[in-house]
Amino acid sequence: MNRPLFMLSVLMLLASMVTARAFASEIDWKSTPKTEVLLIYPGVTSWEFLSSEDHRLGARAIKRGRKSCRHCHLSKEGELDMDVKHIVTGALKMKRSHGTFEPDPIPGKAPTMKANLQAAYDNDYLYLRIEWLSGGNGWKEQASTTTPDRVSLQLNGTEPYFRRYGCFISCHADVDSMPKSPSAKSVLADRYYNNLGRDNVRLYAYYAKDAWNKPKPASELKKRRKDGGVIDLWSIEFSAKETKSMDGAIFSDRLWQKNSSVEGTGEWSATGYSAIFKRKLGNGGPDDVPVIEGSVLSISIAIHDNGTAQRKHYVSFPLTVGLGVDADLKADKVNTE
Ligand code: HEC
Repeated sequence: MNRPLFMLSVLMLLASMVTARAFASEIDWKSTPKTEVLLIYPGVTSWEFLSSEDHRLGARAIKRGRKSCRHCHLSKEGELDMDVKHIVTGALKMKRSHGTFEPDPIPGKAPTMKANLQAAYDNDYLYLRIEWLSGGNGWKEQASTTTPDRVSLQLNGTEPYFRRYGCFISCHADVDSMPKSPSAKSVLADRYYNNLGRDNVRLYAYYAKDAWNKPKPASELKKRRKDGGVIDLWSIEFSAKETKSMDGAIFSDRLWQKNSSVEGTGEWSATGYSAIFKRKLGNGGPDDVPVIEGSVLSISIAIHDNGTAQRKHYVSFPLTVGLGVDADLKADKVNTE
């Protein structure tokens, strides 16, 4: 590298470090209230299981869109009523089909974990901060040898099924790494995936497709999209002391966007990760969730930690964040001028 170019990259590096630090300190997080969120290890719990006779009373309520996961599985005190202890070890079987909830258990894996969520907004942006205890594997390892640790959020403002069932409306038995995922060869043979040169099936909303290769008619998709059926997806990955943020969307496929509407930073230090998402207020792009003062967003959190990928994550039930209005977590307006 010649000298002027080298100097230029040093300057650019310094500039990016300064912006990262400025962004992290815009909000006084120490005085922002924390909401503790419980995350569960779901094994291969899919939308198909949830709406099948294997899930009995749960399925009947879900089909009618009546009660939420939390209504039946969390007490008022926040105690979990779900047999995740035996899901994580692979011991629990489904009631009718006798299928296992976890065909490939990770020895010693905890059935639940906790995260703290904080939210605030100013004149221009919404900020969400999430922290959780972690050994920081992804952060400490070399980029080439590790699976990154990661926090992902699914967000939606209007879809009533997402409000009650959260990310479970996008998790299907035929998604990659789930029990009924089709072979790479048959995925590649499908025209849609073939055009993309892709051999794996990703998350999709249950109302956008009947199965991985059966999208709903175009007119129905158009209406669903218009009615707010697209689920926004924000993610921050931690690998080799660096963070990478991504902005995507889930509808009939899970796709990352080239132009991100979300900035993400974070770090691991001593005992855990902290991650901060920053999103401009307003409607955002075509596949972004509108983030508007006075409105309420539904959010599902997923955390991949300690070398896990794909379905082997912890997930939350959906919770609501209100921008200046009451919700599970109320974001207050702050002055950052
Ligand atoms: C109307 C109440 C109801 C709702 C709503 C409901 N469930 Fe259930 N769920 C149950 C009941 C009851 C069982 C136990 C079924 C049995 O063993 O007969 C169960 C079982 C389960 C199990 C198997 C583990 C266990 O403890 O038996 C999982 C996993 C599960 N539910 C996840 C969910 C998720 C995720 C949601 C939301 C998407 C949800 N449920 C919504 C009532 C409900």
